[in-house]
Amino acid sequence: MPATPEVQTGLEDVVAATTRICFIDGKQGRLIYEGYDIRDLAARSTFEEVAHLLWYGRLPTSAQLAELKARFAELRTLPSALAERIDTLPISANPMDILRTAVSSLALFEPEETRPGPSSIGGAQRLVAVLPTILGQFHRRRVRRPAPEPRPELSQAAYLLYCLLDREPTELESRAMDVALVLHADHELNASTFSARVTASTLSDLYSAVTSAIGTLKGPLHGGANERVMELLDEIGSVDRAEEVVKAKLARHERIMGFGHRVYKVEDPRATILREWSRKVGESRGNLRYYELLRRVEEVVHREKGLYPNVDLYSGSVYSLIGIPHDLFTPVFAASRVLGWTAHVLEEYRDLRLIRPVAKYVGALDLPYVPIGERH
Ligand code: CMC
Repeated sequence: MPATPEVQTGLEDVVAATTRICFIDGKQGRLIYEGYDIRDLAARSTFEEVAHLLWYGRLPTSAQLAELKARFAELRTLPSALAERIDTLPISANPMDILRTAVSSLALFEPEETRPGPSSIGGAQRLVAVLPTILGQFHRRRVRRPAPEPRPELSQAAYLLYCLLDREPTELESRAMDVALVLHADHELNASTFSARVTASTLSDLYSAVTSAIGTLKGPLHGGANERVMELLDEIGSVDRAEEVVKAKLARHERIMGFGHRVYKVEDPRATILREWSRKVGESRGNLRYYELLRRVEEVVHREKGLYPNVDLYSGSVYSLIGIPHDLFTPVFAASRVLGWTAHVLEEYRDLRLIRPVAKYVGALDLPYVPIGERH
């Protein structure tokens, strides 16, 4: 058999694309979007500004920002046939499955947006604008509340909260969500973005690429980790039990969700920022329970395994304090990452080459074919 190069399991360290969108310095713990440090963007910009940055490669002027905000507001309404379809889906469904199904179905109503190519920017804006509406349409039915209105005066962060909570978010809540959306918007060739790029590289359409990405984000080793962190906190219950519970899990070789990262060898800078927001939102609620539990879990995991927190460790505590149900944490991640997925798909269309790696064959060769009647 011809020799094949060694397999890089999990494609670890394989450079599979060039990108101008996002750079991760895993040794220094730095994350850069289009040249800007995530710490500056989280402190000073908004999700809308970052959307302009990732799609067009530069921060917007005031006029461009106003135009983009107006565009988002315009694009929030679902086709009524899709809203009706969502209303027939089982309320017991996993919201990530609803999101995947709804985005896939949306393409049926918007064929003009699904053409692959640079014109997909219209579809990209549509998807970012509409994901909160899909989540609101589904979740509000579960809690017997009316479907959301487009609310053009709200930022994307405030609109997402309004869709999920059916109330006006406070300024602190909106700002916390805006920061979370900025932090989650992109992360280079993470698994879901890679799957979006693979789909786009076949010259398939944007909505198909985003549907692939939603399915990929759902897994607990990726976006699903934030929901599992809250399950861990529920299991631990109180700070004095953290050490015992975490050590027992590690002894059983279980993974502690919210820790470890393929690229970061130090603390994920997004975790540093979200830790502060967990404390801030906790203080505003007079409830530092999650923050204190997470700090203790961090100490134990670092001491026992040398692992650092990733973005998923603190995000759930912020969302939970705001009142978002746990099974919507990964969909909230998707409502932000859809921006990165679409930016990467547009980049893929600009510089397209079919993504098609090879596998090392480890099966048999030259087996004689046995007719069905002679097999046992
Ligand atoms: N808890 C316990 N042990 C861990 C963890 C963890 N969270 N993460 C890595 N390890 C151990 C792992 O068991 C292995 O140990 P050993 O060599 O003794 O078998 C070693 O560290 C290397 O693990 P790996 O699976 O080869 O590393 P990876 O680069 O493939 O995994 C990861 C990266 C994120 C999948 C992993 O760290 C993990 O499972 N973390 C928990 C899930 C999580 O928090 N995911 C969110 C990732 S960040 C946001 C996102 O991408 O969505």
